[in-house]
Amino acid sequence: MIYADYNGSAPICKDVREYLIKRLSEGPFANPNAIHYMGSKVLMAMENARSVCAKVLGADFKQVIFNSGATEGLSQAFHSVLHKNPKKEIIISGIEHSAVVNCAKYYQQDFGCTVKIVKTQANGIIDLEDFKAQLTDDTAVVCIMAANNETGVIQPYQEVSRICNDNQVPYICDTTQFIGKTLFNFKTSGADYAVMSGHKIGAMTGTGILLAKDPTTLKPIIIGGGQERGYRGGTQNYLGYETLAVALNYFEKHLDNIEAINSKRISFEKELKKRFPDVVIIGEDSPRLASTTYVSYPGIHGQAVQIELESQDIFVTTSSACSDNEPVTSKVLKSMNVTDDIGRGVVRISIGLCSDPAMYDTILDALTKTYEKLAKIKSY
Ligand SMILES: Cc1ncc(COP(=O)(O)O)c(C=O)c1O
Repeated sequence: MIYADYNGSAPICKDVREYLIKRLSEGPFANPNAIHYMGSKVLMAMENARSVCAKVLGADFKQVIFNSGATEGLSQAFHSVLHKNPKKEIIISGIEHSAVVNCAKYYQQDFGCTVKIVKTQANGIIDLEDFKAQLTDDTAVVCIMAANNETGVIQPYQEVSRICNDNQVPYICDTTQFIGKTLFNFKTSGADYAVMSGHKIGAMTGTGILLAKDPTTLKPIIIGGGQERGYRGGTQNYLGYETLAVALNYFEKHLDNIEAINSKRISFEKELKKRFPDVVIIGEDSPRLASTTYVSYPGIHGQAVQIELESQDIFVTTSSACSDNEPVTSKVLKSMNVTDDIGRGVVRISIGLCSDPAMYDTILDALTKTYEKLAKIKSY
């Protein structure tokens, strides 16, 4: 079996599995906010996890707020910035995840904000000139991702940070797909807020981190009993947060694998294009995450390819939404001006930093069989 949907969710990584087996059998278990001995032991382990996460992410200990994941982090960052803010403009890009798009829409519908969308170039990278042109004195917040979940294309987030800092506009950087796949340093990113989800990096699902340059700017969205220094109420999921530290350490230990995965992915894509000259690799010439390929064979539905690969025990995904059983081009691809014949055909192959690069050989064989079969009965 080959699982190639890491951008959707990564399996629990080896070190986390081993850690949890030991941790669950040995304890300790207690409320980390309790002042008895057991509580303080749990608290120490959780705060140690916070230090490890801070170190790997290039942040200060106090800038790390544990939560349930990126969606929550993004929601809290938006809330913190827009709460009682007289400025009313929100700038996002056309390739943002729905966790960002729907936040922006919420503030548009219920708080009278205006949402401006930055254009995307055909190569999948946001248009920085358009971004600069959209900033005004009324811009309250900018939210632009570091790497796209569909295409894997890396965005000029440091440049966006610099422009935001120059204009004194808060910048929320959606680093959900970036962290755990390539090096990220919160300090040098220049962003005011960044987010991550544990399930994208091999930690437990339902865990995550909101990084805040100045945590005093945070407003809680879960009020509760003052946990996380008042920034996020509710008894902490300390076991889950410990797994974040283990997974981030695991990632750091395996950073050297990036190069091997990257070069194997590039030769996989080259060979695929050689065998099928009609094949299109989305964002081919742009800087991309080492482990993501978004590929289309125009005329062959992505869903058909996905099902065919699944029958060969290979799990990939297609992100084109389906309406009335008619696959449509995703919003991300539309914003890159990708035509429907290409957009309907995409499948996303995303593996992990610790996956065996040789799995690209198996995927290549399976995809070759699949395309040869489906090309005979092209569906559109
Ligand atoms: C770029 C991006 N942002 C935000 C999210 C939301 O993450 P979660 O569902 O883990 O909260 C995702 C999830 O796929 C994502 O890819």
